Amino acid sequence: MSLLQLSVLGLASFAAAQTQYTSTASSAVAKAAATALTLSPTSNVAGNKFERFVQIFLENTDYSKAIANTDLAYLATQGISLTNYYAITHPSQPNYVAAVGANTFGVTGDGFTRIGSSTQSIVDLLEAKGVSWSVYGEDSPYSGFEGNYVNQKTGASDYVRKHNPVMSYDSVTSNLNRLAKSKNFTMFNRELAANQLPQWMFITPNMTNDGHDSSIAVAGKWARGWLTPLLANPNFNINRTLVVLTFDEGTTSGTNQVYSVLLGSAVPAAKVGTTNNTFYNHYSLTKTAELNWGLGSLGQNDVSASAFF
Ligand SMILES: *[C@@H]1O[C@H](CO)[C@@H](O)[C@H](O)[C@H]1NC(C)=O
Ligand SMILES: *[C@@H]1O[C@H](CO)[C@@H](O)[C@H](O)[C@H]1NC(C)=O
Ligand SMILES: *[C@@H]1O[C@H](CO)[C@@H](O)[C@H](O)[C@H]1NC(C)=O
Ligand SMILES: *[C@@H]1O[C@H](CO)[C@@H](O)[C@H](O)[C@H]1NC(C)=O
Repeated sequence: MSLLQLSVLGLASFAAAQTQYTSTASSAVAKAAATALTLSPTSNVAGNKFERFVQIFLENTDYSKAIANTDLAYLATQGISLTNYYAITHPSQPNYVAAVGANTFGVTGDGFTRIGSSTQSIVDLLEAKGVSWSVYGEDSPYSGFEGNYVNQKTGASDYVRKHNPVMSYDSVTSNLNRLAKSKNFTMFNRELAANQLPQWMFITPNMTNDGHDSSIAVAGKWARGWLTPLLANPNFNINRTLVVLTFDEGTTSGTNQVYSVLLGSAVPAAKVGTTNNTFYNHYSLTKTAELNWGLGSLGQNDVSASAFF
């Protein structure tokens, strides 16, 4: 069958799962928002050091600039400030890919990328052990959306595929139950209120709040303003919750050292307000989850990475 025949068939009947939710036409978005599967899994798998792992990525700022921001400096005093943490590469997308797969898998750009379905990510390891997971991207129009979206009033970019760590993996996008766990902040807030958040989360604010199309001042203010009530909310900061707030990458002229802080109830009281100069990078994210829940490994750069705990 030719590619043309395949795409005609796809349009007519069965669009491939990996691309079926990319249209931004308002009718297509409305239809998908009304019909696309959304899932809110929960679980209670005991961890060695924590019961919940929350990873939050901000955008494109060198460590020196981020730590000089008043709000991020404040947050650094509320947990363990990681003073030797590095992003993997440039630009954004391969850093997000690396955060869940422990490898960039040859991704070197920010364009629409698909990594073959035989490539696993942390999602496979979490599911094998029954650890619930979800990805939350602010302003994604519906669960499982696979494209880029703009603010419908201003036309400004708000949700982007390249900042969704699981979207490049066919092993996620070919599975409707997995797509259904790539959600927006409406769903996050609903699950928070219902005490139905999962054990493993990855959170990406929109292109304003993550600093990408704004400034470190906006991103810092967002991070402090968003996290402060959550850290006081028992539905979020359950006993032994570990939050990692970091940046996808630094600027291309820097060393790629990025700001990173460990927050939440899993941080021992005696370590609140301390720094840790151990070398960490985005591969530490997979390693930390793997050691905590006995997940095994992806056999990638997670094997030699250092865990936070
Ligand atoms: C968020 O996703 C849900 C589930 O798909 C959808 O019903 C809702 O309209 C979305 N919220 C916004 C603000 O787009
Ligand atoms: C990002 O979200 C904030 C609310 O959290 C909103 O004020 C802002 O307009 C959004 N940015 C875009 C580009 O839509
Ligand atoms: C939190 O969990 C630890 C270890 O399981 C336990 O010792 C402690 O009492 C718990 N604290 C609260 C407030 O539930
Ligand atoms: C820093 O990390 C190392 C390696 O995991 C660990 O051995 C050490 O206890 C940590 N120190 C603090 C203050 O958290």
